[in-house]
Amino acid sequence: MFEKIEAKTVGLRLVQPSDAEFIYNLRVNDNLNKYLSSVSGGVESQRQWIEKYKEKEKDKEEFYFIIYRKDTQESIGTVRLYDFIKDENSFCWGSWILNENKTRFSALESALLVYELAFKKLDFKQSHFDVRKNNIKVIGFHEKFGALKINEDELDYFFIYKKSDYLEYSKNLIRFLN
Ligand SMILES: CC(C)(COP(=O)(O)OP(=O)(O)OC[C@H]1O[C@@H](n2cnc3c(N)ncnc32)[C@H](O)[C@@H]1OP(=O)(O)O)[C@@H](O)C(=O)NCCC(=O)NCCS
Repeated sequence: MFEKIEAKTVGLRLVQPSDAEFIYNLRVNDNLNKYLSSVSGGVESQRQWIEKYKEKEKDKEEFYFIIYRKDTQESIGTVRLYDFIKDENSFCWGSWILNENKTRFSALESALLVYELAFKKLDFKQSHFDVRKNNIKVIGFHEKFGALKINEDELDYFFIYKKSDYLEYSKNLIRFLN
């Protein structure tokens, strides 16, 4: 379907069971996991989780990507599209992590790739996602795109982001895609 998609300096490729150790190390990295749910189990249970995920991928229920550098092909992070709400044509994205080997604009490029894929190839009309209330930098990242805070609970803010807003905002960001 889409083995990989690329922006200017990074690309996304579908996660494989052999990525288990890389992902496990990202998730237990204390510099990166402050605002993420914690993983239980070790590399082997991560591998099993990926095997189960691959079934959902086959049914197009979920897509889990490794973010890699185009210059070295090195894996530098993850991002995941899941919780597809058919009635609302909305998808959730998360598990968004980049390690210290990221390129300067990896975050921006990977977010653009998520939206390009979801809005233009998968034909979603809206995105929904949650961000920990104290993850100030990431909240700012989404607000700059024009995402709307629609709800909150004790821990998280809940956002939506509409395709029409993406199409307008991304006009100024084409240079990050190619
Ligand atoms: C979330 C995460 C992937 C974001 O990556 P990041 O590199 O911190 O992202 P940044 O906001 O610094 O953006 C990278 C660059 O793109 C720029 N940028 C971001 N949005 C932009 C926009 N809309 N337009 C122009 N430039 C933009 C930033 O200014 C920054 O450049 P700078 O270093 O020159 O300032 C990373 O911080 C991470 O792994 N965090 C830990 C896990 C986590 O919290 N995940 C999110 C859970 S909701």
